Amino acid sequence: MQLHKLTIASGLALALSFSSAFAGGSKPAVSFGSPITESAIAAWDIDIQTATGKGLPSGSGSVAQGKALFNAQCIGCHGVDAAGGSQYGSMVGGKRPLTGGGYPYAPILFDYIRRAMPMNAPQSLSNDEVYALTAYIYALNEFIPQDAVLDAASLTAIQMPVRDGFIVDDRPDTSATRCMEDC
Ligand code: HEC
Repeated sequence: MQLHKLTIASGLALALSFSSAFAGGSKPAVSFGSPITESAIAAWDIDIQTATGKGLPSGSGSVAQGKALFNAQCIGCHGVDAAGGSQYGSMVGGKRPLTGGGYPYAPILFDYIRRAMPMNAPQSLSNDEVYALTAYIYALNEFIPQDAVLDAASLTAIQMPVRDGFIVDDRPDTSATRCMEDC
């Protein structure tokens, strides 16, 4: 019990001595790290604007290539023809945002697969492979033909079923000017 109290007391003293050091303006100098280069940022920057396709990389892949890859790397969790497997349900039909066409812009599926799949080795696929897998899943959903080849331009051009199913929210409060002071 005594030891316990002592530990708390010394911990408090240590915290106080730190905070008074900072209050006195004697901040420790930052002494590690280096400025990040543009090329280092580029390696992390995989953002895609789904409406315009901006940010999609070069490369291409066919439905047939996607099917072969899917059978080699995805079938264990997603099942034959993506109809549902041990880890996830069907990716064909329905209106799910990514694979069922419930989202207005086709590049969203490329973004998801490149970022997150296969779940046991995310970001291990080449851009050609991601285009091929995207083509295969969209062909299974009959958004593109079986002989399609996808690249940045053809992927962006796919007309998703719900493309025109959204309205602009024009209620007056959506364009109200935000009050930032003396509100
Ligand atoms: C180890 C198991 C596993 C493997 C292998 C795997 N996935 Fe997945 N996948 C999942 C799980 C689990 C989810 C659901 C993740 C979530 O909801 O957060 C998922 C979700 C997805 C989705 C989103 C589905 C939707 O309708 O929203 C896509 C697309 C997908 N995976 C594609 C692939 C592709 C392509 C491959 C092969 C390159 C692959 N996955 C390999 C487990 C896996």
